[in-house]
Amino acid sequence: MTDSPTAAEPHAVEAPLPVRRVSFYYPADTDPMWAPHLPEFAAAANAISLGMPYAEPLFIKAVRSTFDQIDDDLRARSETYIRQETGHHTQHKRFNDIIVARYPAARRVQWMMAKNSAWVWRRSPKFRVAYAAAGETISYGVARWTEENLGRLMDRADPVPATLYLWHLAEEIEHKSNTFDVFEATDGSRLRYAWAAFVGFTTIAFFTAVGALVQLWGEKRLRNPLTWFRLVRLAVSMAFVLVPTLVLSALPGHHPRDFTDPIYLPAWLAQYDPETGTMPLWSPHGSTGSDRSATEGSALA
Ligand SMILES: [Fe+2]
Ligand SMILES: [Fe+2]
Repeated sequence: MTDSPTAAEPHAVEAPLPVRRVSFYYPADTDPMWAPHLPEFAAAANAISLGMPYAEPLFIKAVRSTFDQIDDDLRARSETYIRQETGHHTQHKRFNDIIVARYPAARRVQWMMAKNSAWVWRRSPKFRVAYAAAGETISYGVARWTEENLGRLMDRADPVPATLYLWHLAEEIEHKSNTFDVFEATDGSRLRYAWAAFVGFTTIAFFTAVGALVQLWGEKRLRNPLTWFRLVRLAVSMAFVLVPTLVLSALPGHHPRDFTDPIYLPAWLAQYDPETGTMPLWSPHGSTGSDRSATEGSALA
């Protein structure tokens, strides 16, 4: 256990996480530049998506490696966390196929992402858990930034990829505390967490930039000054949320539950239908309940 003041508060007060089985079907004409009004944003989001099949299994392995050190309640909650993350990277992998088909150079970026995950896994077991905990804080920060900019980013986007990303981000808000609890129960060194957060932040910034540039190069947009202006604006705007979030999360006594949850995304997530395994498709005018993400084979995706 740790000397952190929050460690005294039992993490088991939180119930296991809901597990939603959402499966996306992408129509054959799905454009990987799914936010045509802001292709730089679509490219950056896709770059993060490309990394999900490498980052999330790493987080899962790190959490699972602590199962002999954590109590039954936290282990039970972590099992549901793992099931949420498994759903995420499985669904992203299928969307990534569309991205890589359009931009074959993205495969090279994924190769680097795989190498990076292997490098992290060769660090100490405690560093891996701290890296996963910091990664979850970054995910929470990205969700908060997205909600703050929801209309600008998503209103004119293709609703199916928009729903994929928003479902994922909403669940990131939901499980923001789990990996941090595992980290506190098994280590709790704020210094290690801060170092892991720095490494994680620079890594994701690098891969987001490279992944986005590869796609925008494929779109022949890199000679357009507007592209660079929008990229810098996105990066600065995101950094203004992520950097303070990470710094705050590393301070002694701070716990992710101290972060205020965004309002809209959790409310939207509550509309998941377990009977059909569907979410309301993202709509700028709110969901009518008739347009839903669909399991494979359904008429509507
Ligand atoms: Fe995730
Ligand atoms: Fe996560």
